Amino acid sequence: MTTVHVSLGPRSYDILIQEGALENAAAHLAPYSRGRLIIVSDENVWAAQGEALLRGLGPIQAELILVPPGESSKSWERLESLVDCMLALGLERSEHIAAFGGGVVGDLAGFASAIVSRGCGLVQIPTSLLAQVDSSVGGKTAINVAAGKNLVGAFHQPSLVLVDPACLATLEPRHLRAGYAEIVKYALIRDARFFGWLEEHGLSALAGDRPLLQQAIATSVAGKAAIVAADERETSGERALLNLGHTFGHAIEAASGLSDRCLHGEAVSVGIILAFDFSVRRGVCARDEAERVRAHFASCGLPYTLSELGLGSRGADLVRRMASDKKKRDGTLAFILARGIGSAFMEREVRLEDVEAFLDGHV
Ligand SMILES: NC(=O)c1ccc[n+]([C@@H]2O[C@H](COP(=O)([O-])OP(=O)(O)OC[C@H]3O[C@@H](n4cnc5c(N)ncnc54)[C@H](O)[C@@H]3O)[C@@H](O)[C@H]2O)c1
Ligand SMILES: [Zn+2]
Repeated sequence: MTTVHVSLGPRSYDILIQEGALENAAAHLAPYSRGRLIIVSDENVWAAQGEALLRGLGPIQAELILVPPGESSKSWERLESLVDCMLALGLERSEHIAAFGGGVVGDLAGFASAIVSRGCGLVQIPTSLLAQVDSSVGGKTAINVAAGKNLVGAFHQPSLVLVDPACLATLEPRHLRAGYAEIVKYALIRDARFFGWLEEHGLSALAGDRPLLQQAIATSVAGKAAIVAADERETSGERALLNLGHTFGHAIEAASGLSDRCLHGEAVSVGIILAFDFSVRRGVCARDEAERVRAHFASCGLPYTLSELGLGSRGADLVRRMASDKKKRDGTLAFILARGIGSAFMEREVRLEDVEAFLDGHV
């Protein structure tokens, strides 16, 4: 088992990563359960992995709340019904709920746990690769609203993150690849050696070599834990580096109608390429570096152009969506750009007209 500690003073917690961890769920979750545990999951995850969790929970009684799968569950309506269900089950503030699913379940159930009874405890049991390496760690929870993605939410750290890579056996390959884009992101932010490792082993990890995948997950999670510990609430700019590819990516997702037509990780994949190409255009990054990143995403079967997503020549539309994104500050738009692989930085003042021209010319 690999344990990664997230050091946040009184809000510190561990991330346990272990093949087969679900089988020992009772032992891991006993401190957070008081004999019963309210579990929030989605219908796909429950069909694929519910039995494994129930077996592992043993004597702990599971109270299950299921939501429909997909991004559309991160909504006001679903939040309301979820909170009502929790209260109907007699949830008390001193209890923990468990979010058992991908990033959608984690974000939705995490936000519900931040507000129900003024905040109850939360355990994250992420089942998608994206959730295992990213969304379950760091305490960001959110739903989507008319104005954009993740615009309503709360910081609410979990008490434990339990990662079982064996869950990934039932995840669709497309979702596995989408989650992999976030793994590459960590390497690109500040770990060039890890990027080299991914060039060598990433494809095998994606093809089902679980020890390699577990190693990639642990390295990613350790990278995120360090950044979150340094800047829990994204005040110093350090945590903002995790948004590499995401300002572009969120606009891409919004333009795709926040639907499963374009997965978050796919939007991030194209967004990262855009961030690198834009860095090249601004003269801060060598073209070879951007090409290396593109080649890696391409070899993994991830999208790397706007036109693949049906969004070519949509610069004005995408820029309008970025300007309404939450990262706008004092009328300027900050972007995470790169000086090269492993060397991301925040550029605070990027002119939107430059971005629009760049996007329109991007193929
Ligand atoms: N809070 C954060 O810090 C943060 C970070 C990154 C992404 N996110 C959010 O995460 C969401 C995307 O997460 P996601 O990609 O996990 O999407 P998701 O939760 O929709 O999961 C993807 C699909 O896989 C299914 N699934 C999940 N695990 C499975 C398993 N083990 N077996 C079979 N099917 C399984 C789900 O039912 C779903 O259909 C987005 O809403 C994004 O905004 C949040
Ligand atoms: Zn992301």
